[in-house]
Amino acid sequence: MPRPSTSYVCQSCGAQTRQFFGRCNSCGSWNSLVEQSAPKQDSRRRRAGADPGAGPQARRSMSMAALGDQPLQRLSSGYGELDRVLGGGLVPGSLVLVGGDPGIGKSTLLLQSASAIASDRSVLYVSAEESAQQVKLRWQRLTADPSDLQLLAETDLDLVLEELEALQPDVAIIDSIQALHDGDLSSAPGSVAQVRECAAALQRVAKRQNTALLLVGHVTKEGVLAGPKVLEHLVDAVLTFEGDRFASHRLLRAVKNRFGATHELGVFEMRGQGLAEVGNPSELFLSGERASGVATIVACEGTRPLVVDLQALVSTTSYASPRRTATGIAVNRLHQILAVLEKHMGLPLSRFDCYLAVAGGLDVEEPAADLGVAAAVVASYRDLTLPAGTVLLGELGLGGQLRPVGQLELRLQEAVRLGFTRAVVPRGSGLGPLAARLDLALLEAGSITEALVLGLGVNPGDDD
Ligand code: TYD
Ligand code: MG
Repeated sequence: MPRPSTSYVCQSCGAQTRQFFGRCNSCGSWNSLVEQSAPKQDSRRRRAGADPGAGPQARRSMSMAALGDQPLQRLSSGYGELDRVLGGGLVPGSLVLVGGDPGIGKSTLLLQSASAIASDRSVLYVSAEESAQQVKLRWQRLTADPSDLQLLAETDLDLVLEELEALQPDVAIIDSIQALHDGDLSSAPGSVAQVRECAAALQRVAKRQNTALLLVGHVTKEGVLAGPKVLEHLVDAVLTFEGDRFASHRLLRAVKNRFGATHELGVFEMRGQGLAEVGNPSELFLSGERASGVATIVACEGTRPLVVDLQALVSTTSYASPRRTATGIAVNRLHQILAVLEKHMGLPLSRFDCYLAVAGGLDVEEPAADLGVAAAVVASYRDLTLPAGTVLLGELGLGGQLRPVGQLELRLQEAVRLGFTRAVVPRGSGLGPLAARLDLALLEAGSITEALVLGLGVNPGDDD
């Protein structure tokens, strides 16, 4: 049987050639040619069936109002944290990509979820990386009484597609998409062309038979999901599973979701028996110590408030240019805050090294953390301990003014729930009545100086 021919398509100009070149003949860009398989027989047949007059299949536009309402049916993944990130559960016929570093726990998460779903739905777990015995060992270890599910240890795309069509499961899991191999393409498994073709073929089948498909994707050395943007466009949701290799908790986030909000956060903890959900994640990010240089903020991940401790260490530098390092916060943000403190409060921080860390290995990207960072730095510089039960929230302007932050009400409620009694916030929050109801001392400040005086109880700009 002759091999189906493949062609190469330039990803920057779209030119097509039959032969591979390192440089596109048409637009001159380098390394932009990607192998593509010729359309398969069945898709050609389907296209012929879509001819006008070929029956009720012919597609016409229709008015939005005439379109019936069809509420999204969702299946629970068996884990509240995973459902939350998915926007309420798995949508039948949808394609979800779960990415993350090797060894972070993607296979564990999906096997646990598959086993939970299998208690009342049909599930197919395709393991393209591990042998059937390896998966079974893990499955036995994860739960005391795991539900039975169908397992296929296979890397050949055609065999996986056949099994999907034969079983028509409600949910199918492919671990991983990079390990699958389409025999029609000559490129190696994991290459852009392979990943794209395999995902597209799986999606066609999944949509046709309404199977919810979860794909595992690896993150490359550069930190992007392999088969990069190609897959992200194709799938309905992209979840990333991240965490510190040395810490036990893992964070699941949605970076794209056609059926829910992005930036939702799910928190898990890796234990001896697999992943457990963490219902009260703020506890993970509170160090519990009241030392100098510790300030507490409330970060918001999607709709989820998290109370987090920041810790700063300011010490006299022994270098020509002082060292600044930050874990969990962009170092440029730290530079900016240090410059504002130096300029507006007269603190000679350019003569000091400054280290900043977020407890629990969380990444806090929001500007709402600015005031907390400033307070931690000043507290360490002046060797002060912040009064117990204080949270600080506010974005710092370059002029030293304090700017409002979003979702303040939600953040304050979370702080109160965890026993905090004082909050320093930007002026004009309008949350006085809420604070009174919650029994929270609301301290409003217009500038960084004012906020630190209220937060620390002394004027840190005063000389001793
Ligand atoms: P795994 O799910 O294989 O990672 P991935 O599929 O993302 O590559 O998880 C592997 C790590 O998780 C491994 O280093 C061991 C750890 N682990 C536990 O600590 N407890 C467990 O019960 C399991 C199954 C794994
Ligand atoms: Mg794995």
